[in-house]
Amino acid sequence: MKILQKTNDELILLAVKSEMVSKGDYFLIEDTDMKRKLIVQVYNEEYLSNQSIIEDIVKDEIVRATSPGVSYDPLEIGLLSGIVRDSRLFKAKIRGSSIGSDPNMSSDVTWLPSRVNSKIRRLTISELNRILNRSGESPISIGFVDNSQDPFIIYAEDLDGRLNIIAGKKESGKSHLSKLLVKSLLEHGAFILIFDLNNEYTGLGIKTNGSRSNVDSKIVLLEPGKNLRFSLEYCGKPSVSSMLKNSLDMPSTSLREFFRIWDNLDKRHVLTIEALSNAINNWNFNDLVRDALISRFHTIYSSRLFLNDEKNDEYEGLRFEDLISNNVHGLAMIVNMGSLTPTIRHMVVELILNKLVELLVNDVIHPIFLFAEEAHLYIKETYWDDIITRMRHFGIYSTFITNHPEALGEGILRQVDNIFLFNFVNESDLERISKISLVDKDTIKSIVRTLPQRYSLLIGKMVQELPIVVRVPQLDIKTYGETKKFFKKKNPTMLPSK
Ligand SMILES: Nc1ncnc2c1ncn2[C@@H]1O[C@H](COP(=O)(O)OP(=O)(O)OP(=O)(O)O)[C@@H](O)[C@H]1O
Ligand SMILES: [Mg+2]
Repeated sequence: MKILQKTNDELILLAVKSEMVSKGDYFLIEDTDMKRKLIVQVYNEEYLSNQSIIEDIVKDEIVRATSPGVSYDPLEIGLLSGIVRDSRLFKAKIRGSSIGSDPNMSSDVTWLPSRVNSKIRRLTISELNRILNRSGESPISIGFVDNSQDPFIIYAEDLDGRLNIIAGKKESGKSHLSKLLVKSLLEHGAFILIFDLNNEYTGLGIKTNGSRSNVDSKIVLLEPGKNLRFSLEYCGKPSVSSMLKNSLDMPSTSLREFFRIWDNLDKRHVLTIEALSNAINNWNFNDLVRDALISRFHTIYSSRLFLNDEKNDEYEGLRFEDLISNNVHGLAMIVNMGSLTPTIRHMVVELILNKLVELLVNDVIHPIFLFAEEAHLYIKETYWDDIITRMRHFGIYSTFITNHPEALGEGILRQVDNIFLFNFVNESDLERISKISLVDKDTIKSIVRTLPQRYSLLIGKMVQELPIVVRVPQLDIKTYGETKKFFKKKNPTMLPSK
């Protein structure tokens, strides 16, 4: 491999056919005379193409088509010209440079390595790890870098307190990776909340052979209306207020009246659904407000999210702090949202997030990792910033999983710390996702467009800003989540014999 050109932070390398290079591979370019090194990453490949090579190929084809079988090449020029025609150009971005034996990388890319004397070789995974110079006590084997038997490690500490995104087109393997992260975080004792739209995360507790996995005891499935029900008193005024405002679009006048009733019932220690219903029917306010309150009350009642205490004397409702204190070695709370209507999904999310923030502010629980699948389906646009900034500040660290990059507002793309990118081919999706500021557009667009299924491009703090392509491994758990099909593939052995 040889250097052909350099412009700013980009190199063009020439390679002959025998060299296997994939997009995303790292190379070390060492100029022994200058005692300097460059670390570059290949992000695109193309044929070496100039007018004379193309003319040669065309002429050759014409000769072959018009005089089949005639081939006289005593000097074996054909062999040489074949190698030239198959030569490839690799576009590579310079990711760092170093001087002498200094292991520290700098971003100085202003010098030109020698075209003649520079040695170019592929970086091994251990060399790459040394350059990344990361450390942590909670490793996560995220996958394999091609040509290496050892898994590539990221550290849970680099996801902690951060905003993370998993994005890719449909069925590219996003939820699979998300399950891998959840499982690893659980093994390290983390507390996790998952908004699950496809009822696919419960499989984390079951191995592929049907036996229990090592995290089975740390998983709890919360089903809204069944074991996910709260008492009004536990939810408290702030959570219920957010729910009415953000999920049920309650106008502010009606909200004020609602809280007059709330305060009254609270003072009399009868804060129950039944008492609330009676008060709304009998309270003295104008018809518009009454209608607004009655319609919201019916939604609240039919959601079954709140205890109707008379029938549930013995059950006090869900209390996150109890659930968490009973599972001190880590817990994944999977909220099953697949069967809920959009309004109830919104309500569930509002209630849970607001309650958790309250508990975090009062230091009652540990910080929580939130995994939210397709969050645009249950979080309003105006609310994203709140989750990213305010909630992160209090200790809710989000990972958004989506095949819909448009749903990720510019605010999120600007603030994201880590991103796991799978394949995207659609131009507008690529354009959107390449707006993240962590790495250059060229790299994202070119690598992501051709990423095979189950391969992911890791970007951000977890890889110290050096983008890395990994092959995500299989998991020994039931991953569920497959799309249900009407037509089943026929098993060839089941075909009727003729
Ligand atoms: N690394 C992997 N190894 C083995 N199987 C995988 C891997 N990644 C994904 N799969 C399988 O491929 C299928 C699709 O994966 P997954 O459900 O994670 O995709 P997705 O991107 O979440 O899709 P959707 O957009 O529909 O939610 C699943 O059956 C999953 O088990
Ligand atoms: Mg999915």
